[in-house]
Amino acid sequence: VTLELIGAPTDVGASVRGAGMGPDALRVAGLPEALARQGYAVVDRGNLAGPATPWTQPPSGLRHLDEVIAWNRSVYQAIDTALGAGHVPLMMGGDHCLAIGSISAVAWHARKRGKKLRVLWLDAHSDVNTEATSPSGNLHGMPVSCLLGHGPAVLTGWSGERAALQHDAIRFIGIRSVDGDEKEAIRTLGLNVFDMRHIDEHGMRTTMTEALQDVDEDTHLHVSFDLDCLDPADAPGVGTGVRGGPTYREMQLCMEMIADTGRLGSLDVVELNPALDVRNQTAEVAVELIESLFGKSTLVR
Ligand code: ARG
Ligand code: MN
Ligand code: MN
Ligand code: MN
Repeated sequence: VTLELIGAPTDVGASVRGAGMGPDALRVAGLPEALARQGYAVVDRGNLAGPATPWTQPPSGLRHLDEVIAWNRSVYQAIDTALGAGHVPLMMGGDHCLAIGSISAVAWHARKRGKKLRVLWLDAHSDVNTEATSPSGNLHGMPVSCLLGHGPAVLTGWSGERAALQHDAIRFIGIRSVDGDEKEAIRTLGLNVFDMRHIDEHGMRTTMTEALQDVDEDTHLHVSFDLDCLDPADAPGVGTGVRGGPTYREMQLCMEMIADTGRLGSLDVVELNPALDVRNQTAEVAVELIESLFGKSTLVR
């Protein structure tokens, strides 16, 4: 298996600056070398180029819309190329709006290959706002809506179908910050949300067993890993941290159980903000978790 690292150094979807430094922080923390040590062929494609973040007030309810489109176009292109080459793409963000481009490309390839797609959305937030419901106008709070076909027309339909994802293709893990209208959306769309209460009551093991149900040899599994899913005590380097997330240990189990399926086909690692981090700790934690996601184990070599 060849892992293809693709940097997308931008914070266009956010209103806190710094996520654009995420890809290099992951490199400094040794991500390419760690994966190579596990026996993978690793290709680092370097960083994609795109427009600067203007940091102006949104003219409509959508902050930096043109720049978000441009960055997502180049992410789509790069992921499409990687999957076309038979590689496993690892998109290093950048903020979470980039999942629009990456998952749209993944959905296109999954459909072409007759695979069913399952997305695991590891996040403190449900990211299912729309222009109408968003309290911030930040597009990193809206990628799920776009992928379900409910976003602005310019950000939907990229997978070749209006909706890149059906509502039952996605599982949310670690959720603990949902805006008022997002609660409504989760209910009416019928989304599968394993929130922190669920993890507290049932534990990570049961939660992941449920989230991975029906993942089989015909499944393309995509993980969209927003680092603010982790408890901020373990991962302080994020722009929109929320107390009360999974611990380092719980998250390790989550990653190991995903690895055990053997079906991981693509990955986003987003929202790492080195400007807010403590001595690159969050990037180092991310690298250790990604090692587990790609099969590193304590006792099995
Ligand atoms: N729900 C908030 C908003 O829509 C925060 C979203 C945070 N999203 C993220 N990917 N970190 O503005
Ligand atoms: Mn988040
Ligand atoms: Mn249903
Ligand atoms: Mn997110």
